[in-house]
Amino acid sequence: MLIVANWKAYVEQLTKAKALVASAKRLATKKEVQIVLAPPAPYLGMFLNGKGLKKELVQFASQDISDSTGGAVTGEVTAAVLAELGVTYSILGHSERRALGENDALIASKIQHAFAHGITPIVCIGERERDPEAQYLQFLRSQLAAVFGPLEQKDRMRIVLAYEPIWAIGKSATESIAPHDLNEMVLYIRKLLAEYLPGRGAEKVTILYGGSVEPGNIRDLAAGGQVDGFLIGHASVEVPTFSALVKAVS
Ligand code: PGA
Repeated sequence: MLIVANWKAYVEQLTKAKALVASAKRLATKKEVQIVLAPPAPYLGMFLNGKGLKKELVQFASQDISDSTGGAVTGEVTAAVLAELGVTYSILGHSERRALGENDALIASKIQHAFAHGITPIVCIGERERDPEAQYLQFLRSQLAAVFGPLEQKDRMRIVLAYEPIWAIGKSATESIAPHDLNEMVLYIRKLLAEYLPGRGAEKVTILYGGSVEPGNIRDLAAGGQVDGFLIGHASVEVPTFSALVKAVS
């Protein structure tokens, strides 16, 4: 089970960040649960300092990656810098970044930058709303095509996909997706992935769910056995709730 803590911009004090990292290290004692922390970029430098090791149970992710390869681009944080620090994952195409203007082509390009530096992209997809005609299924198909279409076969296998329906983000456990619906969606996504991954490839892609995962629903969401982990926002930035989340699936 892969637990990715997306701190967004919730954590703005170093003392709090340190407490969360310490608690993640205490919790990550079992091989079955791998924890990835995605703090604001400057904290990556403080916690990693070039020491990120792929075998550590607590890994670090950036919340984004520059679409540039360095040079005269003020304000950008490139994949090369992140990789040198020891960052092993990057959240790409989050709906909050898409809302700021990122489109599928830009996200596809960022995915290439991540792979070029050995960083595993955690790519977010998900519909804004569910329409009665189920157009959202077609929307997901086109989002997947934009991600997987341009990639080489070997990289397709290595993508971590995060299904994050926008309507379920930033709410509470009771307003999150129903466990049964989540299982159906993950099966549907794997069916679509079969177009890009021959044989049993689609079954092996890591698929996370994100959107109001809290201690009150994580176990039920995991119970269907379809998801490989969770991308967690607001419930990941307080030590007690984060501990409860990890313990619930350990
Ligand atoms: P949330 O955020 O857990 O606060 O809903 C999840 C996400 O946006 O990644």
